[in-house]
Amino acid sequence: MRGACACAVVCALVALCAAAGLDEATRVAAEKQLLALLGLPRRPPPRSRPPPPVPRAMRVLYDARAAFPAAAANTARSFHHTPTELDDRFPGEHRFRLFFNISGIPGDEIARGADITFQRSKGATGFQRLLLYDVVQPGRRGRTEPILRLLDSVPLRPAENTVSADALGAARRWLQEPKNNHGLLVRVLEEGANSSDARLPHVRVRRRVTENDEEWHAAQPLLMLYSEDSRARAARERGETLLTRNKRATTRKGHRAHHRRKEAREICQRRPLFVDFADVGWSDWIVAPHGYDAYYCQGDCPFPLADHLNGTNHAIVQTLVNSVNPAAVPKACCVPTQLSSISMLYMDEVNNVVLKNYQDMMVVGCGCR
Ligand SMILES: *[C@@H]1O[C@H](CO)[C@@H](O)[C@H](O)[C@H]1NC(C)=O
Ligand SMILES: *[C@@H]1O[C@H](CO)[C@@H](O)[C@H](O)[C@H]1NC(C)=O
Ligand SMILES: *[C@@H]1O[C@H](CO)[C@@H](O)[C@H](O)[C@H]1NC(C)=O
Repeated sequence: MRGACACAVVCALVALCAAAGLDEATRVAAEKQLLALLGLPRRPPPRSRPPPPVPRAMRVLYDARAAFPAAAANTARSFHHTPTELDDRFPGEHRFRLFFNISGIPGDEIARGADITFQRSKGATGFQRLLLYDVVQPGRRGRTEPILRLLDSVPLRPAENTVSADALGAARRWLQEPKNNHGLLVRVLEEGANSSDARLPHVRVRRRVTENDEEWHAAQPLLMLYSEDSRARAARERGETLLTRNKRATTRKGHRAHHRRKEAREICQRRPLFVDFADVGWSDWIVAPHGYDAYYCQGDCPFPLADHLNGTNHAIVQTLVNSVNPAAVPKACCVPTQLSSISMLYMDEVNNVVLKNYQDMMVVGCGCR
């Protein structure tokens, strides 16, 4: 009877935790339900060995457990550019094209923010300016000029280690018309009197011949794309980020102490439930965390309902009726009344790093409802 009170999330997790003892059909169904909850069409493949490194910016974002820098976003993805044959048309260092293959982003996601971060070259002098363009239509050599849309213009000063530019306009367009993703064009201009100097640009866009994979990985431009998926959007539109405790119209200080003492061990409360991703066989694609405290709610909702049991007026009435006539209605149920979100860092099918916030994954408070 109590089991029926648990919320769907916890049920799915518990089912998966117990997967060892379940038959195959049930295990598959449980995994499918949990993947759907996480907004994944199927289980991502195991990470390659050795796993690709998680970009520092992504790690920092995960460790901070702070809101994403784009309002309403619940997902962050990082991308490195993909070399293409078109790159040969940009042999210099002051003009460079970067193609980002974002085709793996599910169609229900809306871009809420995007920025591209460049590492600065050491020892660069003077002032330069970075211009970032969306290549709306590529040029045809000797025939037509490309159609470019300026996305951002950022001054480059010698002292900074990195520089970021806003690429949201392009990311939005690529998600809407994936066929017309022709990449970003980066231009670096000299500012001031010495514009004819052939200085090295201040930002790193090309791999140096002396660089190994690891060094280039750290020096490469990084696109961070923040999006909102349809589940998060629906929850936001319903105004439903957290289940909030209802205001109590009456104060109930009159309950007798012996009721509490008698049922103290059984009473509705939050109980520990650690979900270990290794136990459910998911540690090969989830980068972090290794698991998390989901908690669950269990226990009795005895008459008279005490204040700390977070009951609604309705639960108080139901408990009262049950105490008078147990056959008429069951007692109120012990359920989560406040939930909080967790963040997960994982690799998608093409080894891009994804950081997602999942709402309502962890019980904060229980109550009788
Ligand atoms: C983008 O990535 C997808 C999935 O890996 C791949 O099928 C597709 O060919 C790539 N597109 C380009 C233009 O590289
Ligand atoms: C121009 O460059 C020269 C040498 O590189 C330097 O001496 C001079 O101060 C620069 N002028 C400005 C305005 O930056
Ligand atoms: C009632 O809710 C509050 C806030 O969510 C929580 O701190 C408290 O533990 C809850 N009571 C029970 C019995 O879980």
